[in-house]
Amino acid sequence: MKEQQGFTLWFTGMSGAGKTTLAREVVQALKERGVTKIELLDGDVIRTNLSKGLGFSKEDRDTNIRRIGWVCEVLTRNDVVAVASAISPYQAVRDEVREKVGDFVEVYVKCPVEVLIDRDVKGLYAKALAGEIENFTGISDPYEEPTEPEVVVETDTESVEESVTKILRKLEDLKYIAEVKDQPKPYSEEDEALMEKRLRALGYL
Ligand code: ADX
Repeated sequence: MKEQQGFTLWFTGMSGAGKTTLAREVVQALKERGVTKIELLDGDVIRTNLSKGLGFSKEDRDTNIRRIGWVCEVLTRNDVVAVASAISPYQAVRDEVREKVGDFVEVYVKCPVEVLIDRDVKGLYAKALAGEIENFTGISDPYEEPTEPEVVVETDTESVEESVTKILRKLEDLKYIAEVKDQPKPYSEEDEALMEKRLRALGYL
């Protein structure tokens, strides 16, 4: 039997929505669940090596996504879990990658642009609004929302933990990872009630 089933977990969403944070947390959680062969492909990092020199025109973005997608395809085929995090603003290329990879789980990291402008972690939205950065996703360049993502996380209203749990649940539902049964409680409810009563009587509660 296969020790591990390969799949690609693809995070898409606008800059600052929380893709990298969530991808890192999910990788950590999967490792804790015994997934040993796993690789994180982060858009910002990829642009310093594999996609170095590419810009942000539609053509360059599509090339970037196809490259990341190809790596995901190869890893997945070899039963490695590939976790990709890139804006990937165009539906057609995301679908192209989905088609090629096969075992593809798309996570839409959703956040209203007003919240992103407000957060502006990297200070890029202010620059984009001032016209200092051209073709900035969500400001002066399109972001096409995924039409059928497996998971949607809303980072303006959910905690990181909630979003991570949603993603892990979906991976369990899809049978990519084993379900973790709720740990049985060490004490019965009766025992707990009795202990509480005694602690209360002793003045500890
Ligand atoms: S993608 O569109 O090709 O998927 P990618 O995720 O690799 O984008 O890179 C996005 C990152 O590049 C952003 O988080 C931001 O830091 C930076 N960046 C620089 N210029 C732009 C721009 N015009 N639009 C979006 N992001 C930009």
